[in-house]
Amino acid sequence: MDGNGRWAKKRGLPRAVGHQRGVEAVRRLVRALEPTELECLTLYAFSSENWKRSEDEVDDLMNLMRRFIKSDLPEFIANNVKLKIIGDWQSLAPDIVAMLEDALAQTANGKQTLAVALNYGGQHEIARAAAKAAAVGEVTIEAIAAHLDTADLAPLDLLIRTSGEIRLSNFLLWQAAYAEMLFVDTLWPDFEPAHLTTALDDFARRERRYGGR
Ligand code: IPE
Ligand code: MG
Repeated sequence: MDGNGRWAKKRGLPRAVGHQRGVEAVRRLVRALEPTELECLTLYAFSSENWKRSEDEVDDLMNLMRRFIKSDLPEFIANNVKLKIIGDWQSLAPDIVAMLEDALAQTANGKQTLAVALNYGGQHEIARAAAKAAAVGEVTIEAIAAHLDTADLAPLDLLIRTSGEIRLSNFLLWQAAYAEMLFVDTLWPDFEPAHLTTALDDFARRERRYGGR
């Protein structure tokens, strides 16, 4: 979900406003999730590298997270959205961890998964999974995959990056091995459910061969 800062800058607004509008884009998308029939939508909300940002900006992002969970959890429950968190989220502030644990428990019976990557880095995820696989003496692709944070999710089919950047920035590196990719210029706060529908139409036209021919 990239481009909040540039969205704000273009309008002469503080970055924090861009992040707020970014949350609104998330809310719109979650509300429009059911008809897409997506099994899982994963959002890269905070990377393990985002701690490099100013303390003020990190605080803004954490506070937005607190507010979002509080305000939108009832909707998740009502709309059968099952929350899932990937990344080292347990080392976030204790009150956030508690809110997330509560949200996970309350949405456990949901149908469509909204996975949120928090304090997430793909390389670290792979290293953690490989260490766990090694601990039981089984360093195979299957064993590593079984220890990834995403082990219980469907394989990644489509990865979308907004804001015109063409790189993965440590997102779902392992899972992206055979994912289709889509890079769009839209800044995240401008991302509408219609953009997702267009992306899914694009995905449906792709021919996937997984190295075969
Ligand atoms: C992404 O928007 C939001 C998060 C990292 C949470 P950015 O803040 O990276 O926006 P740009 O890249 O400065 O436009
Ligand atoms: Mg950015």
